[in-house]
Amino acid sequence: MDKFSSKDYEEFKKSVEQYVGIDLNFYKEQQMKRRIESMVKKFKCTSYSDFFNLISSNLKVRDEFCSYLTINVTEFYRNPSQWKIFDERIVPYLLKNFGKELNIWSAACATGEEPYTIAMILSKYVPNQIIHIYATDIDQSVLDKAKEGVYDESAVKSLPPNLVSSFFAKTPDRKYRVVDSIKKCVKFEKHDLLKDPYPEKMNLIVCRNVMIYMTAEGKEILYNGFNKALVNNGMFFIGSTENILRPSKYGLSNETLFFYRKVKDI
Ligand SMILES: C[S@@+](CC[C@H](N)C(=O)[O-])C[C@H]1O[C@@H](n2cnc3c(N)ncnc32)[C@H](O)[C@@H]1O
Repeated sequence: MDKFSSKDYEEFKKSVEQYVGIDLNFYKEQQMKRRIESMVKKFKCTSYSDFFNLISSNLKVRDEFCSYLTINVTEFYRNPSQWKIFDERIVPYLLKNFGKELNIWSAACATGEEPYTIAMILSKYVPNQIIHIYATDIDQSVLDKAKEGVYDESAVKSLPPNLVSSFFAKTPDRKYRVVDSIKKCVKFEKHDLLKDPYPEKMNLIVCRNVMIYMTAEGKEILYNGFNKALVNNGMFFIGSTENILRPSKYGLSNETLFFYRKVKDI
């Protein structure tokens, strides 16, 4: 692949930003290049510009490129030990400090398993009618799937069986449909964490497994934005392989594994 020069890649990034709206400068270059080059090979293109011509002329390839690039892997109750802490410590903390009507944002929610998991856990504590979760992602195709709320068996494999039986209906083709009472708790919207304005007055922000793909500069945009989006003492929940270097710089304090509390405005 060394025939693909850095100059070519710089041009490609600009074209992708203009046409697809994803700014690749904020994502780790090695990782992105590896993914892009494997698609370039798959479609037998001879250069980045050749591949860009294909993306811009073929909607199916464009969508496949977006989905592959943005890495949509997720599942219900992903990393169960994190959700155990959320259930046993964080939810009681949030209810005690902010009452039952919480403002919750699942940022980079992919196909919806994460915000639905939050709703399922919360519904043990508060009536579904007052659970409102704002769930966003940059990729419209994952949001469409999220709104549909129908999943393969593999998506529910980490969920405790009692949650599966309480919150899913089996479809005739052996899929799992999220029940309406949980679906109604989540509002999905397209949102780019690197560009779009953030919501305000959040008591909890869950943003897992997207910052790992970003450069330090990209992460910084998110941390600053999350500080402003959170109320004081609001909680920020990150992925199981992530951690924030120097959280105090962003007005955050590490409360327990994977959870940061906003301690001040920045
Ligand atoms: C690996 S998934 C994480 C899903 C879920 N949070 C989890 O941990 O299971 C990463 C998601 O981040 C989204 N994403 C990537 N860049 C983004 C951006 N700039 N703004 C919003 N979402 C983004 C992708 O579309 C993808 O759905």
